[in-house]
Amino acid sequence: ANKLVLSVVVLGASGDLAKKKTFPALFTLFKKGFLPKDLRIIGYARSKLTDQDLKEKVKGYLKGTDAEVNEFLSRMSYIPGSYDGDEGFQSLQKGLEDREKGHEGAPVGRLFYLALPPTVYPQVCAGIKKNCTQMKSSEEGWLRLVVEKPFGMDLESSEELAGELGALFPEEQLYRIDHYLGKELMQNMLVLRFANHFLSPTWHRNFISNVQICFKEPFGTDGRGGYFDEFGIIRDVMQNHLLQVLALLAMEQPVTLSADDIRDEKVKVLRCLSPVKLEDTVLGQYTAAGDQRGYLEDETVPKGSKTPTFATCVMNINNERWAGVPWIMKAGKALNERKVEIRVQYKPPAAGIHPNLNEMRNELVMRLQPDEAIYMKIVVKQPGLEMQPVVSEMDLSYKHRYQGANIPDAYERLILDAIRGDQQHFVRRDELRAAWAAFTPLLHAIDSGEVSPQPYPAGTRGPPASDILVSRAGFVKNSEYIWKTAEVK
Ligand code: BG6
Repeated sequence: ANKLVLSVVVLGASGDLAKKKTFPALFTLFKKGFLPKDLRIIGYARSKLTDQDLKEKVKGYLKGTDAEVNEFLSRMSYIPGSYDGDEGFQSLQKGLEDREKGHEGAPVGRLFYLALPPTVYPQVCAGIKKNCTQMKSSEEGWLRLVVEKPFGMDLESSEELAGELGALFPEEQLYRIDHYLGKELMQNMLVLRFANHFLSPTWHRNFISNVQICFKEPFGTDGRGGYFDEFGIIRDVMQNHLLQVLALLAMEQPVTLSADDIRDEKVKVLRCLSPVKLEDTVLGQYTAAGDQRGYLEDETVPKGSKTPTFATCVMNINNERWAGVPWIMKAGKALNERKVEIRVQYKPPAAGIHPNLNEMRNELVMRLQPDEAIYMKIVVKQPGLEMQPVVSEMDLSYKHRYQGANIPDAYERLILDAIRGDQQHFVRRDELRAAWAAFTPLLHAIDSGEVSPQPYPAGTRGPPASDILVSRAGFVKNSEYIWKTAEVK
């Protein structure tokens, strides 16, 4: 792999995603020695910039020594061009050919990273297909494209986009990023689930009462309201990120660890989801509180918008393993804390000899962020003379257990996978379709304006109706137990 003559073309090079995520991830991979020595990065966008202008724009986002930063920047160049027509893509092809010249015989890789709005994906992919696929110097050459959500607005528009891209490039060349798949705990899921025999038989409706997947952010949409308002919280995080969490938690064991075997299982379980119903949903929209302006006060948000910034949905998976187990999904902006976690709540013992066991349920908690942790709530005897059951935990806090371990950023991992040609952590077209199918009827009902979200003050836990829905779904809250991250000495 080290002999690879690699060019990464970042389209939309002057935009936010490129500056904040793509370039820094490439830089860290390069700095740590994961990228081939012969690396070139080409920025492409409409603005008339020079190489130097792009370097200046990107520099501030790269964290490393001056030497490391300069080494990386020395491999960067910029080509201006439009996203339609051939001219720009022809100069890009020329840039790539020049750069690959003299390396005849070595394997060549071209990674096109589309840090662009999806509306231009079809024309950009057509431009690349027509003008940038010729690689003279190598027989072993590869070309891959990385794209990111939003992939459409609903099942139909997503399929249309997928069809347009699919007509240009086969699935093996398309890498659909869902950055949640690059997070450490998401990557752990296949190990945790299928390498622990004590979990396997209990991972079932006979033992599990309900599952909760919860995403909380303390900040609102400030400044990003224009984008957000078109999409809302369900399209922004639930239909993609949280559904990926659900798929990995709920799927059957794949035949092997190959990318397609894993994705086959994810598709299967996603197809078992019943479309989410409006009556199993609570929607919310935050209002002003303290320093935080209300959603409707954000000047980038259209007046009177009914877009939800919070949602709780109770979902059902119709298969032998999960029928009857509520899967609760909750996501919101401008809430009381930043946290993403999964709670798998077990049923209480069938014939307990101790009091209050219904409130003291076993719960496997996986905290994706911040402070990655996996802990199991268990009931033990309170130390002392009395026979007093109490909830405690078996705790794997990463910060404590894996001190000094480096947890890579999701984008680093995924970009490296794309360079290595591993599609395991990228979303396949049929997976995307199944994910949209589950939410599309609900989204259409919301879009038609027939439902108004319930107001909740910024900085709170969301509308109270959400807690009622969650407890109706069977989740039992133990108000006495508080988990504390272990101190690191
Ligand atoms: C993005 C959403 O996909 O994910 C944002 O568009 C959200 O609205 C973000 O804030 C959350 O990602 P993370 O990695 O910070 O949990």
